[in-house]
Amino acid sequence: MIFYFSGCGNSKHVAETIAAGLNDTLVFIPEAAREGRYEYTLAEGERLGFVFPVYSWAPPKLVLDFIGKMQLAAKPTYLFFACTMGDECGLTEKIFRKAVEQKGWSLSACFSVQMPETYIGMPGFKLDTDENAKRKIEATDKAMRGCIPRLQKKESFSKMIVGSLAWLKSHVVNPGFNRFATDDSKYHVTEACIHCGKCVNVCPLQNITLENGKPTWHGNCTICMACYHHCPVNAIQYGKATKGKGQYFFS
Ligand SMILES: Cc1cc2nc3c(=O)[nH]c(=O)nc-3n(C[C@H](O)[C@H](O)[C@H](O)COP(=O)(O)O)c2cc1C
Ligand code: SF4
Ligand code: SF4
Repeated sequence: MIFYFSGCGNSKHVAETIAAGLNDTLVFIPEAAREGRYEYTLAEGERLGFVFPVYSWAPPKLVLDFIGKMQLAAKPTYLFFACTMGDECGLTEKIFRKAVEQKGWSLSACFSVQMPETYIGMPGFKLDTDENAKRKIEATDKAMRGCIPRLQKKESFSKMIVGSLAWLKSHVVNPGFNRFATDDSKYHVTEACIHCGKCVNVCPLQNITLENGKPTWHGNCTICMACYHHCPVNAIQYGKATKGKGQYFFS
């Protein structure tokens, strides 16, 4: 059973590829959480997997919260995760390992892959060029062709792109990001909006409604940026940070 989260489709692509390779089933974490589905029973020897994007050099808080609430009938015998990120994941492995060890489970394998950048909510952050994005996706597909057979054989391994200043980024910047940079009140919509409702439908947290045809954000946001990236007329902006930066989602 593979639990996944994805805002802009990168991690969904990775989760679907792994699930196909392992002949496994997928559970979308926000949906399971919304429906209060936290209790699971694994078949004997069944793998337990997680796939998610790296958010500020750590697993997204919603993934860690979900793991905290999960209840398994028996301890998993093989537990893995795969994470996607634009560049580097800091101490994601260590943070994830601690979260599962608190449940009495142990991590068997993990790997990180680079996918096109989705975060542009602050000055200085920008998307990949089309060429770079294509290169990253091709490299990820190649990396998965290497890792999936290892998951099939239930090998223990860790292949993570940690990057520089990892402790500082994961333990100092990350808590600050979660506290101060996940504020959806900075989202606003320009006059270009054609009231199509796409942003409502793509939000994994069902955080957007159309009020008199205009998107309204309701404060339950993980800053996945799916609403911004999917708008067909680029009418959504996040403060001034996203202006003129273009859009991307995995297709
Ligand atoms: C809120 C947010 C924070 C991010 N933080 C990081 C990061 O710390 N390191 C990194 O390399 N990429 C970071 N990214 C980029 C994403 O991890 C990357 O683009 C990922 O593949 C997006 O996955 P998705 O399409 O499944 O949502 C961040 C993206 C978002 C939206
Ligand atoms: S996706 Fe864009 S155009 Fe469609 S309702 Fe949302 S903001 Fe308006
Ligand atoms: S409101 Fe936008 S950024 Fe926030 S969770 Fe929904 S789609 Fe993601």
